[in-house]
Amino acid sequence: MLPSLAIVAAVAVASVSAISIITPNSGQGWTNDGSNTITWSSVSTDKANFTIILENLNTTTAPQPQQLDALVNTADGHVTVNPPSEGWPAVGGNYIIKFVADTEDLDTQLVQSQPFSINAPAVSSGSVTPTLPPSTPVAPISPSDSGASGTSSGSAAPSVTGASAALPAMGVHTGLVGALVLLSALLTQL
Ligand SMILES: *[C@@H]1O[C@H](CO)[C@@H](O)[C@H](O)[C@H]1NC(C)=O
Ligand SMILES: *[C@@H]1O[C@H](CO)[C@@H](O)[C@H](O)[C@H]1NC(C)=O
Repeated sequence: MLPSLAIVAAVAVASVSAISIITPNSGQGWTNDGSNTITWSSVSTDKANFTIILENLNTTTAPQPQQLDALVNTADGHVTVNPPSEGWPAVGGNYIIKFVADTEDLDTQLVQSQPFSINAPAVSSGSVTPTLPPSTPVAPISPSDSGASGTSSGSAAPSVTGASAALPAMGVHTGLVGALVLLSALLTQL
């Protein structure tokens, strides 16, 4: 008798607030560039749909709650939300999202997320930039290295050696021509 009552009580408690927001959370925030994703878990007894509200807990900026989506199908478990028409709010670490039952009454809250941050997107071009300098010298060298154009993979190392070997030779040649011009100029003066 007692165990079955405990089970009924546990089920009743669980069904009160069954929707649980998984992401975003305190460790996984959003970026202020493009769309963001919300994921949640739910059970069949949950309300069939809900409205998503974004709130800033940092009251120094007098933030307004922003509706991100409405009539979201609870059973979907995830949704991608686009930025509001005025864009994502300022970068910061005190945002929450709320699922509310009724667009007209934002107090009909079903669940709210952990506080999470909205950050500028990580600069992914930083990893691209270092790869450009190595590839840039290789490109001009390989056309001039016509003899090794058949092999693409192994041509990089030899062509660099050939280029660095050719540069001092050109320097010596230029210096020799310069010396000859200077010598002829001197001879003309004499
Ligand atoms: C939203 O859910 C309510 C009940 O929770 C239901 O009456 C209504 O038809 C649903 N609307 C849509 C568009 O699914
Ligand atoms: C709240 O917002 C203001 C203005 O953007 C900022 O200077 C301040 O650091 C924020 N406070 C917290 C706790 O995030």
